[in-house]
Amino acid sequence: MPASSRRPLISGNWKMNLNHYDAIQLVQKLSYLVTKDDVERVDVSVHPPFTDIRTVQTALESDRIPFFLGAQNCHSDDAGAFTGEVSPAFLSKLNVRYVIVGHSERRQIFGETDEFVAAKVSAVLKHKMHPIVCVGETREQREAGSTLDVVAAQILGSLAGRESTQFLDLVVAYEPIWAIGTGLTATAADAQEVCAHIRGCVATTWGADAANSVRIQYGGSVKAGNVPELMAQADIDGALVGGASLDADEFARIVQFPSA
Ligand code: PGA
Repeated sequence: MPASSRRPLISGNWKMNLNHYDAIQLVQKLSYLVTKDDVERVDVSVHPPFTDIRTVQTALESDRIPFFLGAQNCHSDDAGAFTGEVSPAFLSKLNVRYVIVGHSERRQIFGETDEFVAAKVSAVLKHKMHPIVCVGETREQREAGSTLDVVAAQILGSLAGRESTQFLDLVVAYEPIWAIGTGLTATAADAQEVCAHIRGCVATTWGADAANSVRIQYGGSVKAGNVPELMAQADIDGALVGGASLDADEFARIVQFPSA
């Protein structure tokens, strides 16, 4: 399957920004800027904080705005004594389509392990949603030359238990931690090298069809200025955008990256 047959996916990870009033404004502004032609060639997802999700769902559905609704995290269980956690079953009831799992901020600040991430991936798929599974190395790991090994271990750990056929529904986001929120971006060639390695790991463990169907995003200081070169790489199928997704004009320009 050539890269062009995987639909690009541009996702806006709002992190812990924007209350539900701000969220409506951003989604409405985006809906004026992103055209029907844009969403015919690119899937767009927005990932607001949990407190905004119902509001954004209502705005998207009542105004028929063609963006997919996303979440930034979920728990691995459907229900139970998990104070403060959010059930994947409840997200699916809100028509959430994509759930980010194992973001480096969850791994580093909240101590999430590959094992927990793998359980979340299972839960998201069970509810017919699509996980966006994040992997990426620290600056120290890159400088030590261990990027490819670190990322391969995260892929094998976070995707443990997957069936080959599930890769059509899976997204992997390669996000070098040193590039997140720093203004530093991996060069397109470095990002391509790691994304190709990720696809190779999937091929080795789950087969060529799985590797050809999995969508791989790059994330880490993506902006309108660097997205065209990143998206021109053979193994980069989309972008996970943090800071720049809070600015409607910038995010719309990212979605409108020139086609190769
Ligand atoms: P950034 O964040 O675009 O602000 O670097 C990306 C992310 O953390 O998903």
